[in-house]
Amino acid sequence: MTAFAVAASENDRFALRTMVVRQVRWEAEGVISMQLASPDGSPVPVWSPGAHIDVVLPSGLVRQYSLCGDPADRTSLTVAVLHERNGRGGSREIHETQLVGRTVGVRGPRNHFKLRAADEYLLIAGGIGVTPLLAMARHLDAQGEAWRLVYGGRSRASMAFLGELAAFGGAVRVVPQDEAGLPDLDAVLDSASPGTEVYCCGPEGLLRAVEAAGAARAIPVHVERFGTAGPAAVVAEPAAAVAERGDASGESTGSVAARAGAFEVELRRTGITVDVDPDRTILEAVREHLPEVISSCEEGFCGACETRVIEGIPEHRDQVLDPVERESNETMMICVGRSCTPRLVLDL
Ligand code: FES
Repeated sequence: MTAFAVAASENDRFALRTMVVRQVRWEAEGVISMQLASPDGSPVPVWSPGAHIDVVLPSGLVRQYSLCGDPADRTSLTVAVLHERNGRGGSREIHETQLVGRTVGVRGPRNHFKLRAADEYLLIAGGIGVTPLLAMARHLDAQGEAWRLVYGGRSRASMAFLGELAAFGGAVRVVPQDEAGLPDLDAVLDSASPGTEVYCCGPEGLLRAVEAAGAARAIPVHVERFGTAGPAAVVAEPAAAVAERGDASGESTGSVAARAGAFEVELRRTGITVDVDPDRTILEAVREHLPEVISSCEEGFCGACETRVIEGIPEHRDQVLDPVERESNETMMICVGRSCTPRLVLDL
């Protein structure tokens, strides 16, 4: 059995826990689902629709997958995985390795794609992007909310969960490309009632098109990305805001110097402090002392290295956190983020 760190508490969303692959099931052409359970049968962590987990595969590769099961089911977590033949190897390992009965590391669930209160919900899925939206659809339906789902894919044979979605009747519109072409996003968004919010997951082209269509109509659009949207967005806070909060937390500010140069990072649980020079990342500095710290893309878009910030003000350079999450400074992506203050204290 592969050994992973034991979770600090049942619902610690940053803890790495060991889980057993209880079942692998074929869902569609190139798509399998994988059910993960606690080795001792204890309840799996609580999660909400839109949440994802980091899976540490037997090879050591770390990949992120949205949860697509039922949040009320505390016996297992379910993800669905598309076999990406030209991918970076994670999906190939899951599809081509006999994993049932083996253990994997699981970190999370964490949720950067939460449902917010709205009058109506429009869910737009492309291909395997249906996974978080399936959990949302199930939840919204159970809550009696007004919702509909537009689900595009290459062909019916390649589209997972069609049987389950059929139970929702007219709330779900399936658009296989080989039968009906691509979904007409302008028409879909034009038909949205006032007060609608859009949730979209799928390939980057779809996300960008939906974001643009939503912006043109002032309709809020929430997207879930597992790939890069392009160059990392750097959000530089106004110096005054940094100074104000730096003072409040007892930090000296010096934000401009800190951004341009070195700073130090205290790893509170480990009990050491590391220097982060201008030419290396926090992740690289941390890894010298904590080689087990997990990461995946190392470009700021997957969320695998998300770390809780205890003190100091991070400079966010990732594409994972939304503006509210950035403003809260509760967590940061240490593969790309830096510090606005001379010292950061991280929960590591
Ligand atoms: S490793 Fe992907 S965001 Fe840091």
